[in-house]
Amino acid sequence: MTAGPTWEALDPVRGLSNHSSGKMGYAVAAAARKAGADVDLISGPTALSAPSGVRLIAVRSADEMMAAVQNGIDRCDIFIGVAAVADYRPAHAEESKIKKNDERVTLELVRNPDILSWVSAHHKRPFTVGFAAETNNPLEYARAKLASKNLDLIAVNHVSNQNNPFGSDQNQLVVISATDESDLGRKSKTQLAAELVGVIARKFHERHKTQNS
Ligand code: PMT
Repeated sequence: MTAGPTWEALDPVRGLSNHSSGKMGYAVAAAARKAGADVDLISGPTALSAPSGVRLIAVRSADEMMAAVQNGIDRCDIFIGVAAVADYRPAHAEESKIKKNDERVTLELVRNPDILSWVSAHHKRPFTVGFAAETNNPLEYARAKLASKNLDLIAVNHVSNQNNPFGSDQNQLVVISATDESDLGRKSKTQLAAELVGVIARKFHERHKTQNS
């Protein structure tokens, strides 16, 4: 699974990132481990320590996160993408600190790889779970993402004045599959993670039963 933000370097001391603290992803990793899973946690830079029994693979950029995911895909039954991956990175990272010479500078950004879409298109496709953080029409966008990224499940958090999941110990999640939706409500990330892992385990076993019948 992935968690945390990515850091897209502009020069050795600056970069582009976001407010993901890693708390949601680390809580999911701990809950999955508690449920008996063997967990690889591929994480962007956070201030958190790895949950007990979880293998932490520390990365910085989306490219590094992608490489770590590609490295582990063959031994993965379930993939959960909780990371807030930067969609774009600077076209060039300067080797030395950018100097303040000009009044105005233009930053050229290029698209980052979509890790989740790569996983769900893989020939040994694991059961694939995505996250979505949206400010407007979260359920509509999440249903569209479930289909466009070919996911088994998506967990949606609404980013609003009442619920800002970035950095908070609380969150509010709705879990969506192609056939049903369940509102897990607003509670601690630890509790939500345990319930989410329960839903993932149930759906994963259902899919296995269908494939084997
Ligand atoms: O870390 P916290 O402070 O606890 O905050 C938790 C969270 C808000 C970061 C988390 O709950 C969450 O919602 N993570 C997904 C954030 C997001 O903005 O996702 P997205 O809509 O950009 O991407 C959708 C999905 O595609 C995600 O599963 C993401 O991991 C994945 N993705 C996105 C872009 C990309 N290049 N590669 C990806 O794999």
